[in-house]
Amino acid sequence: MNLFRRKSVTALQQEALTDQSLKRALGPLNLTMLGIGAIIGTGIFVLTGTVAAQNAGPAVILSFVLAGVASIFAALCYAEFASLVPMAGSAYTYGYATLGEFFAWIIGWDLILEYALGAVTVSIGWSGYVVSLLRDIGIHIPPVLTAARGTLVTLADGSTVTAIFNLPAVLIIAIVTTLLVIGIRESASVNDVIVIVKVAVVLLFIVFAAKAISPDNWKPFIPANTGVREEFGWTGVMTGAGIVFFAYIGFDAVSTAAQEAKNPQKDMPIGIIGSLLICTVLYIIVSAIATGVVPYRELDVPDPIAVAADRAGLGWMASLIKIGAIAGLSSVILVMLLGQSRIFWTMSKDGLLPQFVNNIHPKFKTPWITSIVTGIAVAIVSGLLTVREAGSLVSIGTLLAFVIVSAGILVLRLREPNLPRAFKTPWVWLVAPAGAASALYLMISLPWRTWQRLIIWFVIGIVLYLAYGVRKSRLANKA
Ligand code: ALA
Repeated sequence: MNLFRRKSVTALQQEALTDQSLKRALGPLNLTMLGIGAIIGTGIFVLTGTVAAQNAGPAVILSFVLAGVASIFAALCYAEFASLVPMAGSAYTYGYATLGEFFAWIIGWDLILEYALGAVTVSIGWSGYVVSLLRDIGIHIPPVLTAARGTLVTLADGSTVTAIFNLPAVLIIAIVTTLLVIGIRESASVNDVIVIVKVAVVLLFIVFAAKAISPDNWKPFIPANTGVREEFGWTGVMTGAGIVFFAYIGFDAVSTAAQEAKNPQKDMPIGIIGSLLICTVLYIIVSAIATGVVPYRELDVPDPIAVAADRAGLGWMASLIKIGAIAGLSSVILVMLLGQSRIFWTMSKDGLLPQFVNNIHPKFKTPWITSIVTGIAVAIVSGLLTVREAGSLVSIGTLLAFVIVSAGILVLRLREPNLPRAFKTPWVWLVAPAGAASALYLMISLPWRTWQRLIIWFVIGIVLYLAYGVRKSRLANKA
């Protein structure tokens, strides 16, 4: 049994070149839009307020800068890999080329936390916003159908009911899954429209709310530590960085569309780095404005950006911001489900998952079975889980992938220094270790309970691999 058998980069490149089963429809703009589609979501619309109020004060701006820098290190490594090995498996495939099959499986299994569980988390947030917007216009969904099973929902009269399941979350997953089955071009077009809406809302907020900044709200910039490590002071800013990191998740999802890109060597780096840079700038400005307009203590609300707009005298913007948030969350779900179905598809083609799931739809040219299987699984879980249970696992899973990708890029530079690289990570001996170290640091700042869940998840994954993948692997059977 050779658990560390590897696929060669040349073989992978050959496979990427000859495999025409998916439709190559995406250009550099579509890819950048996919990245922005996946990035801007719950993070900026919700976490900005919580972190300012509970962890960092106005220095939530610094938390965004720090998490952004850590993400940019990782993005540069992803860009080199994605242009070198433009396969839909993303980090899973990069792991196959550098660390061998066992680690590749572990990464693939880990990516389920980022993509499938990411879609779960965001669909629950989506449900919250939609229920609230519908209520504003007089449509009431029965409260027992608006939250995870067993959750207590408070009614307008103060009484509570126990929820049965989260119907809107399940519905949005069903809609997005249908779109993904119909086609990549259709999915990308819908994503483009949604991204334009959400970026427009963010820009409107920036332009109009900036005038209402009162610099006194930024003082003290880093409030003194309260004695609790996570509350204010530098340690609070760092904890805040670990939490707002969630807002940056998604640029790496661009790499799962590599086999649907027209010119992946050139366009993958543009999509990955371009989308991240745009969002980093927007995040820093939005967090500066929100804390400049509202005293940080008052930002501990589910809709801090809407509250800031309201304080800036922009009452008319409140519904617009809800619409922007709903649009934002919809595209995050879309790109996360897209990424997950492509990763499962690649793993199944490699024999590590059952073969029947890698079927491509004859007409739509999409991996329709993996899309539907992913959709059903995500819908069931999103009807039953709460955001808190899912969110930190998404971050730890993504950060682990960043650590491995950053390390993998160095392994490949050492092992195959002469491969022609269309995009080279600049100062790689500095950037890649910094990427791995900062992701590791952010992982350590997450709670021990999250680590326990991660370990349980891996134990299940390893048992599955030893029971199935290790024998069915295409690479093993070829050998
Ligand atoms: N970055 C995505 C969000 O903030 C996952 O919702």
